[in-house]
Amino acid sequence: MKITRIESLTFGVEDVAASARYYDDWGLTGVEKGATGKDYVLPSGQTVKLRSLSDSSLPAAIEGGSTLRECVWGVDGKATIEEIGAELGKDQKLTLDSSGVLHGKDPWGMPIAFQVENAQDVKAGPDRLNRPFMPAERVTPTRMGHVVFFVPKDRAREISDFYTDRLQFRLSDRSGGLGDFMRCAGAKDHHNLFLLAAKPVGGFNHVAFEVNGFDEVLQGGKHMKDKGWKPATKLGRHILGSNIFWYFDNPAGGNTEYFADMDLMDDNWEPRVWEKHPGWAHWEMD
Ligand SMILES: [Fe+2]
Repeated sequence: MKITRIESLTFGVEDVAASARYYDDWGLTGVEKGATGKDYVLPSGQTVKLRSLSDSSLPAAIEGGSTLRECVWGVDGKATIEEIGAELGKDQKLTLDSSGVLHGKDPWGMPIAFQVENAQDVKAGPDRLNRPFMPAERVTPTRMGHVVFFVPKDRAREISDFYTDRLQFRLSDRSGGLGDFMRCAGAKDHHNLFLLAAKPVGGFNHVAFEVNGFDEVLQGGKHMKDKGWKPATKLGRHILGSNIFWYFDNPAGGNTEYFADMDLMDDNWEPRVWEKHPGWAHWEMD
């Protein structure tokens, strides 16, 4: 059983036009879906789907207002879909739709689904031999790297165990008082999922989009500011995961993050357990 990455996120939003304008400015390429929404496809083949709150095909909301309505995880093949179906089917009713996507929930109610990944090769950074650095005209995020959910604080360990024990996620860092950073079995990112145990109830916190290096985090963020979108944080480098980050308030729910240069790890990595959270950032700047 190998989950490999985030495959698709579906948001139910109050204002489709504003959410679409946000993701257009963020640098994603979209396809209109009539009055009810818009789909975005990243170079990686991952998708972001915006849907009106009134769309009756959406899974039940986990919180009021604009938010994530389903997180679809990509897997390495049909056999994994069957394995997950057998495992999660022990204690919940799952639905397999006509496209072969298996839908269920995690223990606090976040709708999660599984489909065979549609992985596209993402071009690595530019070849620099005999080519002086030249900034891209517009930043185009290459892929979604991670999602972050608030999980009910008093159930944080149970929910974390669900992902590691039943879906084979690997723990990278466990931070006392903050939450668990974990990666898919088939991925090397420090985290593809962070369960943030900061509130009594669950919810959606953010999704992170990878760009090509420090310059593009800065350039993408500056473009968003120029377009009038509000930064949710300063520009900085995280301590856990080490990624360069810049977060913005997303009208589709939560925040989005530009990130680059995250730590990579495999099964040789020993998960670190921090009694006291080591802190948010090595450095930050306006
Ligand atoms: Fe993040």
